[in-house]
Amino acid sequence: MYLGVDYYPEHWPKEMLEQDLNGIKDLGANIIRIGEFAWHLMESEEGEYDFTFFDEVIAKAKERGLSVMFGTPTATFPAWLAKKHPSILSEDENGQKRVFGGRRQYCFNSKIYREYSAKITRKLVEHYQNEEAIVAWQIDNEFGHEGSDMCYCNQCHQGFQEFLARKYDGSIAKLNETYGTIFWGQTYNDFSEIPMPTKTITTHNPSLELDWARFRSFSVNSYAHEQTEIVKELKGAHQQVTTNVSGGFFDKWFDHEENVKPMDFVSYDNYPVWGGLAEPITPAAIALNHDFNRGLLDKNFWIVEELMGAQGHNVIGYLPRPNQAAMWSYQAFAHGCTDLLYFRWRGMTKGAEQFCYGVVDHDNHYGRKYKEVQSVFETIRPYEEVLQSPIESDVALLYDYDNIWSWRFQTQTESYDFMNEALRLYTPFYNLNVNIDVVPTTRDFSKYKVLLVPTLQIIDEELGERLKEFVSSGGTVYFSYRTGIKDKNNNIHFQKTLPGFAAEISGITIHEIESLSSGESVRIKGEGKYEGRTGECTTWRDIITPQAAKTLYRYDDPFYPEAAVTKNVYGKGSVYYLGAGIGEEIIQDFAEETVEDHVIPYQVSEKGVEVYSRKLNGANYHFLMNHTETVKAFKDITLQPYESKIVKAED
Ligand code: GLA
Ligand code: ZN
Repeated sequence: MYLGVDYYPEHWPKEMLEQDLNGIKDLGANIIRIGEFAWHLMESEEGEYDFTFFDEVIAKAKERGLSVMFGTPTATFPAWLAKKHPSILSEDENGQKRVFGGRRQYCFNSKIYREYSAKITRKLVEHYQNEEAIVAWQIDNEFGHEGSDMCYCNQCHQGFQEFLARKYDGSIAKLNETYGTIFWGQTYNDFSEIPMPTKTITTHNPSLELDWARFRSFSVNSYAHEQTEIVKELKGAHQQVTTNVSGGFFDKWFDHEENVKPMDFVSYDNYPVWGGLAEPITPAAIALNHDFNRGLLDKNFWIVEELMGAQGHNVIGYLPRPNQAAMWSYQAFAHGCTDLLYFRWRGMTKGAEQFCYGVVDHDNHYGRKYKEVQSVFETIRPYEEVLQSPIESDVALLYDYDNIWSWRFQTQTESYDFMNEALRLYTPFYNLNVNIDVVPTTRDFSKYKVLLVPTLQIIDEELGERLKEFVSSGGTVYFSYRTGIKDKNNNIHFQKTLPGFAAEISGITIHEIESLSSGESVRIKGEGKYEGRTGECTTWRDIITPQAAKTLYRYDDPFYPEAAVTKNVYGKGSVYYLGAGIGEEIIQDFAEETVEDHVIPYQVSEKGVEVYSRKLNGANYHFLMNHTETVKAFKDITLQPYESKIVKAED
């Protein structure tokens, strides 16, 4: 079990190295992550490779029993490279080249950049392949973050046209047919005529847009895989390979499961609050983030950047309350984190991250945060085996990047946000403290009992059949609005009544729809066991005509009094169709019904108290997190504000 900090010795006078390493050691740490932004230090002139600085750092770390995760430094190339080859710089949608000065401004399709990246990475890993202190390599840093997954340069344009030619087997006729380019007279005679979807009058062809997103994903992932293969070819057998996933992964233009496929484990950077946010994201959102990262390789993961101090570039915000960052660490451990490093040892006085506070701050004072980290490391280490235990879930939330990208190009309603829609279904089950996996639709989901399927527009026949099989065999599916309207070419199904391939199992048809703009809502009222219950729906509404399904809620609307929420029994299973932006309290009723029906173990806890249960050798370990500023209790256990603890349960 590795516990440590992200350390940048290159930021400080060399005479501070040993004092720092002693301070890190006294935290109870046994690992440091170094190097991910230090390309120039290792190659200050082209072809002049020098690793002596890090040789000394690693030697001093080893003297203190500290292991090392080393980052390949391709996220920040040297100025001499940008000057010699400006073509490596990416371009924004307006054709504006990004200038040297930030980070990750490289184009993933620059052949020159790939050559230089390969050289530095090859030299670095060859140099350290036998270094027993280095236990893991981090590839680049937060692929695609801060807008770096999008580039509109000529290399990308040409790459896109080649990508399309391969995808459509060289047949421009096939592309025209798929895209429907007859519309607005857009028929192409040749792949070389095809544009990137940059600024135009009105909007682009949806099939083109989705293929462009797929090309972006291909660009990022082929670069990542090229780098990964170099490291795997040269690294020592004792060294593993990972990359660190950044927050906002549903807002990125690349498929993360594909990105990490060749790696040994996933790492995640957990920042429950960043920049100018006045308060952290919700506890459920933090939890979903961890479940997403655990789902990528379907195994436990590392956190290589855990927030301890307030963070931000030009604007910072919320200061974690005492023990709140410790509690977030416990929450990460609960959801599958096995090894954790805090970002970062000491806040830097110079450069773009002066306001990214660390374990220790600019005054080099070992204060509250230092002690909080010490306490986490001391109290979590005895649970190493528990943290290694696999997490079994009966519930899974399904996502599909094609679907997410389809929504990003055509949001259909101004207030659409995929993460919000995922949380709309996830949170009621999170509130019941059940384990939830977050996995792509391509994953075999037959082992689960419940599937949460937020706004999955793109359902083709194959997926429709797998969902039908799942429900027939006894599973419960939750669909939300706009389910099944499109095919994998981002086109609306023709002559298929909505919700398309989900219609039969949902037991409904949909012939009317309405986008609800921000602030607009429609009342809904309960029927049957929900008689007398009312609520408001926002964002969107499908006007549902039940066929075999039962109406649970209908719109309180004289013009469209049809169903808003239905439940259909199909085969041995059932399908809830939530045809609008329904509130948490209404879905909470359904969630409780579902976990009871399926006899899924769950815990009742006060709002803000998270209970996550792990099993080891027949014993249950409840991770308790108080996400609130008030004293709470779970059973007979008192939890102080932001307190977290693990209790071994006799049940
Ligand atoms: C990200 C990056 C780090 C640093 C932190 C600041 O996670 O990986 O390099 O920029 O944010 O909070
Ligand atoms: Zn480019």
